[in-house]
Amino acid sequence: CGIVGYVGHRNASEVLIKGLQRLEYRGYDSAGIALIKEGLHVFKKQGKVAELQKIIEGKDTTATIGIGHTRWATHGGPSDGNAHPHYSSDKKLAMVHNGIIENYDVLKKELIAKGHTFESETDTEVFLHFIEQIQKDNNIALEEAVRIALNEVIGAYAIVIVSEDAPDQLIAARKGSPLVIGIGENKSEYFLASDATPIVEYTKDVVYINDEEVAVIRGGEMKITDIKNVEKTPYIQTLEMELEAIEKGGYDHFMMKEIMEQPRSVADCLRGRVIADQMHVKLGGIRHKMKDLMNANRIIIAACGTSWHAGLVAEYIIEEFTRIPVEVEYASEFRYRNPIIREDDVLIAISQSGETADTLAAIELAKSKGATILGVCNVVGSSIARSSDEGAYTHAGPEIGVASTKAFTAQLTVLTTMALMIAKEKQTLPEETLHKLLVDLESIPEKIAEALKCEEEIKKISEMYKDAQNFLYLGRGYNFPVALEGALKLKEISYIHAEGYPAAEMKHGPIALIDEEMPVAFIATKDSSYEKIVSNIQEVKARKGKVIAIVTKGDTLIPSMVDHAIEVPDVHEALMPMVSVIPLQLLSYYIAVLRGCDVDQPRNLAKSVTVE
Ligand code: G6P
Repeated sequence: CGIVGYVGHRNASEVLIKGLQRLEYRGYDSAGIALIKEGLHVFKKQGKVAELQKIIEGKDTTATIGIGHTRWATHGGPSDGNAHPHYSSDKKLAMVHNGIIENYDVLKKELIAKGHTFESETDTEVFLHFIEQIQKDNNIALEEAVRIALNEVIGAYAIVIVSEDAPDQLIAARKGSPLVIGIGENKSEYFLASDATPIVEYTKDVVYINDEEVAVIRGGEMKITDIKNVEKTPYIQTLEMELEAIEKGGYDHFMMKEIMEQPRSVADCLRGRVIADQMHVKLGGIRHKMKDLMNANRIIIAACGTSWHAGLVAEYIIEEFTRIPVEVEYASEFRYRNPIIREDDVLIAISQSGETADTLAAIELAKSKGATILGVCNVVGSSIARSSDEGAYTHAGPEIGVASTKAFTAQLTVLTTMALMIAKEKQTLPEETLHKLLVDLESIPEKIAEALKCEEEIKKISEMYKDAQNFLYLGRGYNFPVALEGALKLKEISYIHAEGYPAAEMKHGPIALIDEEMPVAFIATKDSSYEKIVSNIQEVKARKGKVIAIVTKGDTLIPSMVDHAIEVPDVHEALMPMVSVIPLQLLSYYIAVLRGCDVDQPRNLAKSVTVE
């Protein structure tokens, strides 16, 4: 979910609606705003922010204070009633919430016993009524009641509350879910949001609220305390984000813009880190933990979704070049399965958003066992970045399309750089091999630019296969995770069922699916498993499957066997995923567009999953 808040001199509803549109990538089941102007008014609607805009059209929404929310449903399905903001029972308070309150059921029963009734099925409404009840029982200030409530609730939250009785006041708090405050010029206005994107066009001065902190903005002043009411000194940071970075810049969709940006985003990610001619390879952000990394007993990679796929590629790369054992874990499984973690293990958490709840929990678990934690995040200042011992940012710039593209290639760039940095220090690679790899790594931006030239061809192929019911993606070695990623991209945005598989495993099951209706995408570039994958392609062709192959430029054998061959430029096989994934990103994009799908905001998904 995404939350926003505003107090100042501007038209709050305009700031809130615009902010919600920027945060829509975090969820878009329903949206709502609460404004205070001669009373508290809530407007909310199932569907995207555009639906909310329709219902407020023509209504008086001039106010200079308000809060807003765009939802990704957890407790209670998407509906007008479950949309935020929620009211207190006296309708004087309204609250927006991102996160989950785990003990809401117990609280709800207690509140019902005290006469509360609820309009929604959400944990949020229970949370607000709980605060209201505490305030009434103790006859205390709202902020005090909030603090007491926060000590009682179990779960994750970022909340913002407005009160009809205090029309210049916003109260916000966080634990587990992110929250940023933007401070306007001369403290004349304040912005609150789940990330900095709704804020950047107004101010660059921001404060990231820490876990278990409460911010009270009242009469142009901001006060931050912890939940025990100890005052904290806010650390004001300057945002480095530019407004253009979060706009579409002439493209139809963010996803396309982000695919096309990859030559630049990978170059940004490499800048200052890799200079092949000087044999320079360094991630400054992990310098103090470099020894731990080099001497690690084992590296554990924890991540979700596309970031997990980047982790799988990294496993092959790190083991190959550094000989350190690597395990890649779904963060959601790792955190609950009582894994063996030792003090000389290093956990690398990979996350675009830096907010994924399961990945964050995996970090906490590994930390509690004494392991060293390194974060590979895209969002600067995010929770995962801050809870890691050290880390390296991917510097891909804001990624807004829900399907991850440029974050993936930037993650691979950082992880490859990390592997080569260890290899250099540990001398696990001959000097020429290391040099050759660094040269290849430096050339990735131009190789991606070349790979992007397949766009027209991909468009044609997309036309042919847009009505497919199923798709299979197969790859071996370094390209196996690319197969998984290609399949994930397609299912996420086009809703075609797709499976990624190691090509050799196909004969243990998926081969049963193959007939003349079945498109099979092979990632079959020239690498050490080339001959093997040629055989796998033959196995599919023998069963009349339609084959789309991603091949190395100049290859003639595979193109002669398949229905469609897409060329990508040659690079070292370990770096190939950064290049071979490009046509698959484009394929999913064009198929989704042709099917009329909402590419940037596919159904049921959210970009930043701050609930477990
Ligand atoms: C969601 C997104 C995916 C992303 C995954 C992990 O499912 O839709 O695109 O890969 O979360 O997110 P993270 O921010 O931790 O990389």
